Amino acid sequence: MTDAASTDTRPVVLSGIQPSGKLTIGNYLGALKNWLALHEQYDTHFMLVDLHSISVRQSPADRLERCYEFIALYLACGLNPERNVLFVQSHVPAHSQLAWILNCYTQFGELSRMTQFKDKSAKHADNVNAGLFCYPVLMAADILLYGAHKVPVGDDQRQHLELTRTIAQRFNREHGETFVVPETMTPPIGARIMGLQTPEAKMSKSEDAETNAIYLLDEPKRIERKIKRAVTDMEGSIRFDQENKPGVSNLMSILAACTGQSFEQISAEYDGGGYGQFKKAVADAVIATLEPVQQRYAEWRNDEAALRDILRDGAQRAQQRAQTTVDRVHAALGFIPA
Ligand code: TYM
Repeated sequence: MTDAASTDTRPVVLSGIQPSGKLTIGNYLGALKNWLALHEQYDTHFMLVDLHSISVRQSPADRLERCYEFIALYLACGLNPERNVLFVQSHVPAHSQLAWILNCYTQFGELSRMTQFKDKSAKHADNVNAGLFCYPVLMAADILLYGAHKVPVGDDQRQHLELTRTIAQRFNREHGETFVVPETMTPPIGARIMGLQTPEAKMSKSEDAETNAIYLLDEPKRIERKIKRAVTDMEGSIRFDQENKPGVSNLMSILAACTGQSFEQISAEYDGGGYGQFKKAVADAVIATLEPVQQRYAEWRNDEAALRDILRDGAQRAQQRAQTTVDRVHAALGFIPA
């Protein structure tokens, strides 16, 4: 499918993160870190999905602070705004426009089966709003608007990506080739970082227990303490076994994703040395990974005017491409051209 708004003919990549909670090492290893080099091969789009975040209550002041914080962190992690389209979802009205249309191409039963909806509606039982239910449709709109071929995410977004594909295929079947059917792109290691205290459940940025997650802005001492206290087992051996040794396997994944070592190399180097020595190595690797990010963060965060300039430019570029898709969809549906 050609796109009149862009002369870039490379395949398109798009991804996003919700401004809720605090960014964790899971978000970094599962998503952000893997975004950084993609602009070399793809026409890349990365956004902050603020519209998604209102499906769960948070004070406007907290949200605003978080939005600036997350954008500053994207940049501090090394996302280059000249080589990637970097923008905020609410600045591009096409997301809401396409979401309504796609709602009419999504079945109630499909949305009812989404595990994130089930989890979140159990967690926020006092506010099971329609936005929470239709959340995956807005996500489908995010992706289909840009004709994304690949969507780099962690493992927990797979089900949403499957639904996006279903919606795109259904629309294409009824109205002719309108949307690119996207593929999920997950990293071989780090796609599902688990909680330090609950290694059978994923690490989450909206996690209540502070000790369960490592946040990108945690100080080195705090990181060391959290990893020291991470749940392991009584066996004392360092080998990858997700089912029987979830805690150790998770720490191995974190170490492998931070250093590029394989599980075999990690076992060979640390097995026999005890969990204390192994945990120290994991902490050192995480601290070394986050150190440059933390150093660059303050500079970005303190310059809101620069952040807003970048986002204004990103939104303009994003809107251009998104609008061509909206126009194409409107034509496919038989709407009078505006
Ligand atoms: P969100 O904000 O929950 O998470 C952002 C990204 O981080 C990944 N991630 C993890 N990866 C590994 N281990 C973990 N413990 C972990 N926790 C989170 C997520 O898989 C994700 O890639 N619905 C999305 C945001 C979204 C989006 C989109 C993504 C909205 N529209 C369009 C891609 C394309 C979400 O809530 O991610």
